[in-house]
Amino acid sequence: MTDWSKIVVPALSELDPFALGETISDVQARYGLEEVVKLNWNENLFGPLPGVVEAARDELENLSLYPELVNSAFSEEVAQYAGTVPGRIVPAHGTLALIGVLASAFLRPGDHVVVPARTYGLYAQLSAVRGATIERVPLSELALDLDAMASAARETSAKIVWICDPNNPTGWVIGGEEWESFLDALPVGCVAIADEAYVDYLPADRRVRRELDVENGRSVVVLRSFSKFFGLAGLRLGYAIVDEALASYLGLVEEPFNVNCAGLAAGRACLRAGDAAEARRAEIAEARETLSSGLREAGVEPLPSAANFVLARVDVDDTNLADGLAARGLLIRPGSDFGLPGYVRITVGPSPLMRRVTGELGEVCAALRG
Ligand SMILES: Cc1ncc(COP(=O)(O)O)c(C=O)c1O
Repeated sequence: MTDWSKIVVPALSELDPFALGETISDVQARYGLEEVVKLNWNENLFGPLPGVVEAARDELENLSLYPELVNSAFSEEVAQYAGTVPGRIVPAHGTLALIGVLASAFLRPGDHVVVPARTYGLYAQLSAVRGATIERVPLSELALDLDAMASAARETSAKIVWICDPNNPTGWVIGGEEWESFLDALPVGCVAIADEAYVDYLPADRRVRRELDVENGRSVVVLRSFSKFFGLAGLRLGYAIVDEALASYLGLVEEPFNVNCAGLAAGRACLRAGDAAEARRAEIAEARETLSSGLREAGVEPLPSAANFVLARVDVDDTNLADGLAARGLLIRPGSDFGLPGYVRITVGPSPLMRRVTGELGEVCAALRG
């Protein structure tokens, strides 16, 4: 028998596999349920924007061709949407792909990276795969402690500081001045990688304009996703905004044509949705408020969120609460899964669904309180 642990790079035998958790059919079988609603993965529960499904379907006519033209058209339209130039856009099959590409481009075994504890788990995982040492900086009252992160970066001469803004799982948003001071405090040779997977939920005037940091030659990389607000998680589409010179380097790491033609066409249609996207943003903000006020009525404490999920503090065991709701066909994420016991994270869906969730959550909490 081949002992693969001796052949793979050393870091791999020390890491746990990425746990996806139970499948929907596992949950259905366990509780004998017909229908299960997923409020645990921050997926889009509002459906596609107008014209998106049609654009993806039409593009399938070209499936025998490498997506050369649609790739460059995508970069042009994204650049216009993001307020930058096409040469600074690096398309990819999801933000996750870019996290891996950036880790490969920047990290050698023994390098240090700084991550907030708690944030999206894949920054640490994919950095550790490249042999990096992970410096975890605790949150300060559930906000990213940017001063402490910059200090950790200086003390360890870190190559990367991973930032998630709005942060998953807390929903916290970084302010413009705070961000500026943070960048000024980073050591030379350290890259701030800002994952903006949830930024499209924010109105334009609340966003930090990091595309301008890139334009101004700061050591900043911006990551964006089409999986969340635009709802294309199954097509896998995202992009980075980077300096042109870095875009060339990333082109050496990433496979050419790594995004499929249907995904690119769907992404372009999302960006053309204009007023429908604005209306959707308002609809989601209203549904998030319905969720938060329903949670308060149920006796739990929601944190402010700018994204399509809400983190809430509960006075019962979070895993028991998630199990109790799963038995009723509602999947939510217990905070214990990501190091925040005593909290649950719930994806925002249409308001009627939010009323059902908070009603049932209130009942399960009451039963658990006894
Ligand atoms: C912060 C964050 N970044 C990235 C991703 C994954 O994005 P993508 O689907 O574009 O790979 C997620 C998914 O939940 C996320 O929460």
